[in-house]
Amino acid sequence: MRVAVVGGTGPFGIALAIRLREAGVEVVIGSRDHDRATAAAAELGAEGATNETSVRSADLIVLAVNADAALHTARELRKAIGATPVLSVASELRFTKGGVLPSPEAASLAERAQEELDGPVLAGLHSLAAASLGGEEPPDEDAFVCGDDPDAKALVLELASRLVSGRALDAGPLASARALEGLTAVIVNLNKRYRSHAGLRVTGIG
Ligand SMILES: NC(=O)c1ccc[n+]([C@@H]2O[C@H](COP(=O)([O-])OP(=O)(O)OC[C@H]3O[C@@H](n4cnc5c(N)ncnc54)[C@H](OP(=O)(O)O)[C@@H]3O)[C@@H](O)[C@H]2O)c1
Repeated sequence: MRVAVVGGTGPFGIALAIRLREAGVEVVIGSRDHDRATAAAAELGAEGATNETSVRSADLIVLAVNADAALHTARELRKAIGATPVLSVASELRFTKGGVLPSPEAASLAERAQEELDGPVLAGLHSLAAASLGGEEPPDEDAFVCGDDPDAKALVLELASRLVSGRALDAGPLASARALEGLTAVIVNLNKRYRSHAGLRVTGIG
């Protein structure tokens, strides 16, 4: 499988690429800037390319740009992406004096990205912090994935199962992305309050 990580030069994209490479997955790091992509990729033994080139040859695309850039990046790459499945990992957060807040938008970023794209959009991996994902070992956490296309979801769940030592769990339809994205605000608040690196594992699933 060949995975393009759009915006893969950031901490999350790099951490994801480390785990994917370790699992034997072919990775292309995408960036707006070709040289930035190749420099980041060289350190991982991966390939680097502009975002647009990276998505053209991929079986799966991870939209790992800064959350504020997710929708316009999806719009810009629409033609190049075509029918290839896209995994959205972004959460829009608002940092206030009172704490970190989830987005006030009714629809998730992933659902809004779906409106910009022709192929299926999935959402997942939001609860995996870059620092945990890119550590020595796969994080002892579960990974959550939601989406409406069964084949694309199966592909992403299979991939997600290689990223964590916990389980890759099917969290339902794409509309569940509202909860997954909002959960990121909860995790960041926990980390601030308890000076921790919180991760998630679900109990009661065999
Ligand atoms: N960090 C975490 O722990 C974590 C955990 C789970 C999910 N996520 C999600 O994963 C995504 C990436 O997180 P991150 O911390 O790696 O983010 P980041 O460093 O803020 O951004 C990642 C990349 O996005 C690209 N980018 C920035 N502004 C852009 C713009 N205006 N237009 C197009 N591309 C732009 C940059 O790549 P180039 O300049 O090279 O193009 C940058 O390296 C986010 O959506 C975040 O919500 C993060």
